[in-house]
Amino acid sequence: MALHAIETASRDEITALQMERLRWSLRHAYDNVAPFRARCQAAGVHPGDLRCLSDLSLFPMTTKADLRDHYPFGLFAVPMDQVARLHASSGTTGRPTVVGYTARDLENWAGLVARSIHAAGGRRGDKVHVAYGYGLFTGGLGAHYGAEKLGCTVIPMSGGQTEKQVQMIRDFKPDIIMVTPSYMLAIADEFDRQGLDARESSLRIGIHGAEPWTDSIRREIESRMGLDAVDIYGLSEVMGPGVANECVETKDGPHVWEDHFYPEIIDPVTGESLPDGEVGELVFTTLTKEALPVIRYRTRDLTRLLPGTARSMRRIDRILGRSDDMLIIRGVNLFPSQVEELLLAEPALAPHYLLEVDRPRHMDELTVRVELRTGGGDGDQAARSLGHRIKEMIGVTARIDVGPPGCIERSGGKARRVIDRRPVALSQSGG
Ligand code: DLL
Repeated sequence: MALHAIETASRDEITALQMERLRWSLRHAYDNVAPFRARCQAAGVHPGDLRCLSDLSLFPMTTKADLRDHYPFGLFAVPMDQVARLHASSGTTGRPTVVGYTARDLENWAGLVARSIHAAGGRRGDKVHVAYGYGLFTGGLGAHYGAEKLGCTVIPMSGGQTEKQVQMIRDFKPDIIMVTPSYMLAIADEFDRQGLDARESSLRIGIHGAEPWTDSIRREIESRMGLDAVDIYGLSEVMGPGVANECVETKDGPHVWEDHFYPEIIDPVTGESLPDGEVGELVFTTLTKEALPVIRYRTRDLTRLLPGTARSMRRIDRILGRSDDMLIIRGVNLFPSQVEELLLAEPALAPHYLLEVDRPRHMDELTVRVELRTGGGDGDQAARSLGHRIKEMIGVTARIDVGPPGCIERSGGKARRVIDRRPVALSQSGG
């Protein structure tokens, strides 16, 4: 697969295509999704008001709550007999969010995942081990059909069964693995446990996403697995994996496939649009989706838009975290990724962690649970050092609880990084 012409098109060409497609998408949603039409009418806007891309800011935004309120199919824009597949993302409580695809949506999705794998360095004929979960989660099937579309041989392993993951990698000799970064590390640990050198495996490329990860984790994965680790971004409400993907030659953040998704950054508090380069909440409008067009969908992901490099389409910076994951500990804002960076600077500690927050006597208490690396060295010293850095760099006092190797529970998919037992946070946890 060669590069699609649009991947290297000029900004003007991209803008022109976006404008044409945005007109179609707004009109499609307005004509076919009654709740969206009602909200436009209440706001006094009509698709005909769109004269340039920035006019999009006149239109109402969509949130996860809107999808939940119209559960399961209330925001679909096509009759059910045109919906070829459903996926759903589970929240921590209550109803899942349901998404649907027409045959053409599935075709576009596979094409964009194929483009993503290609950007990551994958080529026709490569073997792709898919360890994202199959099922209602978009990761497994999304990766699967994209890899097939690129002309790869797919190994549909799904998540979990870590011993078997290692066996399949050794026996089937895949070139590429698609898996969450946290589960990649669990697989690396399993190689170690079996006394095997993971760097000698056939794997050349890792395509990691579905959860926030830092450059320190990238270095850890690359050095332990002996591969190039590349970032893939996406969310089910907008499509699934492959909304944006990093290029292996630059590894400088995922390029948003702007011919299908129009990105904006807004101030999460005021909802105002922010210019490129400023950090805020990422918002997407789908440009081609038929079954479930979403207009100005608030992702809750915090990042900024950066200019194109290896491709002309804009990039997103690493996701700092979700606004829902931001912890406020005694007034100090903290993202799990900040602790992750500091943790990885401690050679004695393994890159697995869990933040626990309690409020025993009306005062927030943060405990960072970590584990020693196998043969890791002095745990007490590492705990003191990590606690000191967290205090110095983030400004909160944390209790560091260092356990033996393997004590932090591994997940076969997205890692759980936070347990917040404070009463307020519990009532807010909506997934
Ligand atoms: O996680 C889709 C996906 C599957 C993406 C496989 C990449 C690979 P959801 O379950 O709907 O969909 O969760 C979407 O996961 O809003 C982000 O908060 C987070 N996320 C996804 N990719 C990344 C990434 C899939 N590369 C939510 N970096 C998003 C950071 C990510 N966070």
